[in-house]
This record gives sequence, C-alpha cells and structure tokens, in this order.
Amino acid sequence: MSYATLIVEANAQGNKGVTLVTLNRPKALNALNSEVLRELIEAFAAFEADPEQLCAVITGSGEKAFAAGADIKEMSEKAAADFYLEDFFAAWTSELVKKVRKPWVAAVNGFALGGGCELAMMADFILASDKAKFGQPEINLGVAPGMGGSQRLTRAVGKSKAMEMCLTGRMMDAAEAESAGLVARVVPHDDLLEDALKTAAAIASKPPMAAIANKEMVNAAFETTLELGLAHERRIFQILAASEDKAEGMAAFIEKREGRWKGR
Ligand code: CAA
Repeated sequence: MSYATLIVEANAQGNKGVTLVTLNRPKALNALNSEVLRELIEAFAAFEADPEQLCAVITGSGEKAFAAGADIKEMSEKAAADFYLEDFFAAWTSELVKKVRKPWVAAVNGFALGGGCELAMMADFILASDKAKFGQPEINLGVAPGMGGSQRLTRAVGKSKAMEMCLTGRMMDAAEAESAGLVARVVPHDDLLEDALKTAAAIASKPPMAAIANKEMVNAAFETTLELGLAHERRIFQILAASEDKAEGMAAFIEKREGRWKGR
C-alpha cells in the first residue's frame, strides 16, 4: 500500500520481519496532521495483520525532526467543539497503543515535540540520536499535551522533571533523556537508523508469541497494582510454558543450536 505522508517498507533494508515506518512531511518537520494520523493507524494495522512482520520501527524523514508536534496550522482552524466532538487524538491510543500487540520502536532522529514526543512515548521503547530533542511545549500555544504527554512523560521521568518541562516548555536533549529514563539508548546520529533496524531485527528473530507476551507484561506494570501485576506475569509465563516455542527454545539451548520458531 502507498501513503501520502508515510513511507512504509516491510523487511526494511534486508532486515527480515522488520517494518520501517517513516513520517514523511519533512518540510513541516513531520508535523502530525489528521492525514498522518489516519495513515499511521492504517500502516500499523497492516503491520499487525501481517504474520511475516514481527517488529516495527518508526522514524522521521529529513535532517531535523522526528515530529515537531501535532499540526499547529490544522489545529488553529478547529474550534473546541470540533476537538470534543471528534474526540481528537483518541484514536492514537486505541489504535496504536492498545491494538498493536507486536513490538515497535521509535528511532528519534531530531525534534520530538508535543505530539511528536507523545508518539515516541507510545512506542515500546525509544532509541535516540545524539541530536534528538524532546519536549512538551504546548503551553506556549495556550494549550497542554493532548496525546498522553502529561501521563506518559510523568511515568517515564517522574513528576518533577515532567512538570518542569510542561510548565516551561523547555526541551530535553538526548543525554538528559537517557539519564532520566525516557530513552533506552542514545546512538550517534548517523548510526541511528541502522542501529534501530538491527535492534528490531534482533526482536523479530525471537519467538514471536513470547515477544508479544513480554510486551504485554511490561505494559501491565503501568496499569495495575504490584500484586495483580505479578499474578498476571505468572499466568502468562505459565501459558507460554505450554507453547511449542518453549519446548523448542529449551531443546535448542540444551542441544547448543539456534531455535526454529513456530510462533505458537
Ligand atoms: N505544526 C505545523 N507546522 C510546523 C510545526 C507544527 N507542530 N512545527 C514546525 N512546523 C513547520 C513550520 O511552520 C515551518 O513551516 P514553513 O516553512 O511553511 O513556515 C517548518 O515546519 C519549519 O519549521 P521552523 O522554520 O519553525 O524550523 P526551526 O528549525 O526554526 O524551528 C522548531 C524548529 C523549534 C521545532 C519549531 O518549528 C517549533 O517550535 N515547532 C513547533 C513545536 C510545537 O509547539 N509543538 C507542539 C505542537 S502542539 C501539540 O503537539 C499538541 C499535542 O499535544 C497533541
């Protein structure tokens, strides 16, 4: 399928099972308008439905930005009633976060501001270029985060830093984002895409059902109490123990060979 605002490549750059989704509005610093939102939802639904594709990477085109936020020009035309009646931004969380069970990684190659930072935080983890900059500058526009920034940033970096960033609108560089726990790793800018694709390929080479289960378990930590989370983890572990890939994975270890996964 072709898209107007995205470039989507399955088995990207020869990496089997890895889908690369590139936000492709470089002149607008990949600002997220309704068309991007709609196409991202379609692209991720296609990724989720394709049994050959096991991990996705999302990144931004151009030299400067992952995404500089929701599209301010589009939002400037909307009245409060439009935002409310369309339940603006709700689809992101339901379609990209809840419905995509396979892992996906954000490779943040520059500005990740407002909705761009929020999109990166919807991914399972973030790899950042050393030129990346994160921020929630919505206060400068007379608004506030609308795609999860106040909640996900606070969970990622704690109240004090999240509050400071939302109230001042200042940007955080990659080193600060790594030390604060917002990103998994910082990579030299020119190596980011290759590193992200390699990381995704490593994930795609794992037993696919176990990958989905690991993601589900970690995400449960944000939604529940410790006791319920631990019980949930044990149940999923016990279910995985009945899988063909568990028998194969343990046999492969003992026989000192690579596992051959069935995804069952
Ligand atoms: N929406 C629409 N267009 C945007 C945009 C955005 N969020 N960010 C940048 N652009 C456009 C600019 O208007 C400009 O277009 P023109 O050439 O047609 O004028 C082009 O991208 C290049 O931008 P700049 O000239 O501003 O580039 P710069 O290097 O001087 O500055 C920047 C870069 C600091 C990122 C600056 O563009 C900026 O501050 N952007 C806005 C960041 C922002 O406020 N994001 C939050 C949006 S609100 C939101 O996301 C709500 C939410 O929570 C869901």
